[in-house]
Amino acid sequence: MGLLKIDESKCKQDGLCAKDCMTAIIRIPEGGGFPYISPDMENMCRVCGHCVAVCPHGALSHELIPIEKSPAIKDELKISQDQAVQFLRTRRSIRFYHDKPVEKEKIQKLIETARYAPTGSNSQMVEWQVLTDKSVIRNLAAKTVEWLRQLLKDDPSIAKTSPYLYQVLAAWDAGYDPVLRKAPVVIVASAPKEAMSGATDIILALSYLELLAPTMGLGTCWAGLLNGALLALPSLKEDMDLPENHPYHFPLMLGYPKAKYYRLPERKQPKITYR
Ligand SMILES: Cc1cc2nc3c(=O)[nH]c(=O)nc-3n(C[C@H](O)[C@H](O)[C@H](O)COP(=O)(O)O)c2cc1C
Repeated sequence: MGLLKIDESKCKQDGLCAKDCMTAIIRIPEGGGFPYISPDMENMCRVCGHCVAVCPHGALSHELIPIEKSPAIKDELKISQDQAVQFLRTRRSIRFYHDKPVEKEKIQKLIETARYAPTGSNSQMVEWQVLTDKSVIRNLAAKTVEWLRQLLKDDPSIAKTSPYLYQVLAAWDAGYDPVLRKAPVVIVASAPKEAMSGATDIILALSYLELLAPTMGLGTCWAGLLNGALLALPSLKEDMDLPENHPYHFPLMLGYPKAKYYRLPERKQPKITYR
């Protein structure tokens, strides 16, 4: 049996699946007929599911993207442009968290949704580490601060481009956590070196996760300082059980925000060139 399963009682032979196929391997027989993929081309299928999604008749199922697992889009859940713009602009970096654990079901839902972010060539190779142990998180922050301290000692000129780094050390020494902000959860997305667009894929997946989090009352913040330390200190990757062959990684803090925001802060005007 081939990759495509056509319900011949529903298929209108309109060719929409063939036109939308990413690798153009879906064919319609000359003179009309039902769509098919010839067996020698099946290995070119990127399993993107466009053929299932684009059929208005629900006539096409894919061996690896079954129609039963591809729910119909609900018109009543569509959001307006104004809603979407406000939603995107209300996303904030959260740096103060309640000392409250995040339910595992919520973390699961966030990651389950983040896997729908686009990946290069639909490779879907992003993997996840979820850290909830306070002592592990604290230890990561401490090692990041030590790394920064050494970095500034070895080359104080770094502070010229990143003057806030001394503030980070001062805050840590005063008993604050400027690295992971005492977040109850740190989620790390990573991808193996085989992932063609691994660096981009993990950022997109984390962006999906970050955008969904506020709908559950949660907030996030990108942990750039920790990621810098992760890039510099292989031992830190071991502390986090990050797979050895995963050069692409980025950690995100997660927790219940203490702050509530009432306005949408302005940003720089975009520099755009139209040609
Ligand atoms: C790649 C990246 C790394 C970041 N690293 C940190 C970080 O280590 N600590 C922090 O407090 N914020 C970090 N941020 C958050 C930015 O400072 C924040 O996005 C910016 O100030 C704008 O604020 P907003 O996210 O609330 O719009 C990071 C953001 C990005 C995109």
